[in-house]
Amino acid sequence: MDCWKNFYFFFSLSYPYTLLFVFRRFALFVVAGCFLYILKLHFGPEECDRTKMPYVDLDRVRRAQQYASAALEEQCRPSYVKKEMRKLFAEKYSMDISPFVRKNINEDEALFKYEPPFGFHKFFDKLKNLLELLPEHDLPEDLKSKHCKRCVVVGSGGILHGSELGHLLNQFDIVIRLNDAPVQGYTDHVGNKTTIRMTYPEGAPLSEHEYPPASLFVAVLFKSVDFNWLQAMIKNETLPLWVRLFFWKEVAEKIPFTSKQFRILNPVVIKETALDILQFPEPRSKFWGWDKVRSFLLGEGDHKIQSKIRN
Ligand SMILES: *[C@@H]1O[C@H](CO)[C@@H](O)[C@H](O)[C@H]1NC(C)=O
Ligand SMILES: *[C@@H]1O[C@H](CO)[C@@H](O)[C@H](O)[C@H]1NC(C)=O
Repeated sequence: MDCWKNFYFFFSLSYPYTLLFVFRRFALFVVAGCFLYILKLHFGPEECDRTKMPYVDLDRVRRAQQYASAALEEQCRPSYVKKEMRKLFAEKYSMDISPFVRKNINEDEALFKYEPPFGFHKFFDKLKNLLELLPEHDLPEDLKSKHCKRCVVVGSGGILHGSELGHLLNQFDIVIRLNDAPVQGYTDHVGNKTTIRMTYPEGAPLSEHEYPPASLFVAVLFKSVDFNWLQAMIKNETLPLWVRLFFWKEVAEKIPFTSKQFRILNPVVIKETALDILQFPEPRSKFWGWDKVRSFLLGEGDHKIQSKIRN
């Protein structure tokens, strides 16, 4: 919708321009579009060469192992992290935010206050359609009923390579892996247990082997097509080609899970972390997008595209 609004402004603002001028612009858009698409085709996941052995700092490895062992040996303290966060950030931190979007979204104003990634403003219907496909909105019963849980988050930056932390990470109750952090081939260092894989579509591992049967997939939704992608994954359907074109890299075609294993990350968690705790500036209104599009349409964009095509 917004996109069309901008086009409307473009045409209504551009009345002094000649028709030729408008066509020239249009042609430029088409050329630029093809150009970006070709770039995208060449920007595959292979870009990141994980086989290269990175430098391993043995002192850091030793400290990481000691830290993980100590965390596992200590008695588990229920709600320890929540209580500590509350001490640090007082009322900026909500103890009772649900990590996943719940079924009943009708009354939830906070959920729709901001646009993604801080909320689902303008995505009410798409979200509702998705939630109708999801039978569960919480941790699985066996984990939920566990009185105290030790959790660890494993990122995808490669810093664990050479750490030999695998056997320690496997002992945590909940292992959350972010984006495409690989397990296959690296289990000595990153373990082989995955409780939660949390990512946006472009980050979801392409290999079906990265989805162990007893884990959850938590989707982080940023843009409109992310909802379409998740819907296709939950329904085990083929992703339409037009949807695929909107991603900046190849996305997973299948997530080998049943609908019970999918969750949607509650964007209010991101909002609270970014805006309240880290105190990022409030997102500017939609006019930010409008400013960009306008400056592009009214000239500044031309130079950038032309110099890109020339180079
Ligand atoms: C992890 O590896 C251990 C030892 O090789 C194996 O017994 C276990 O089944 C594996 N777990 C998963 C989730 O692959
Ligand atoms: C998804 O569909 C394929 C066939 O296209 C089927 O083999 C597979 O079992 C389905 N997966 C699930 C989780 O239903």
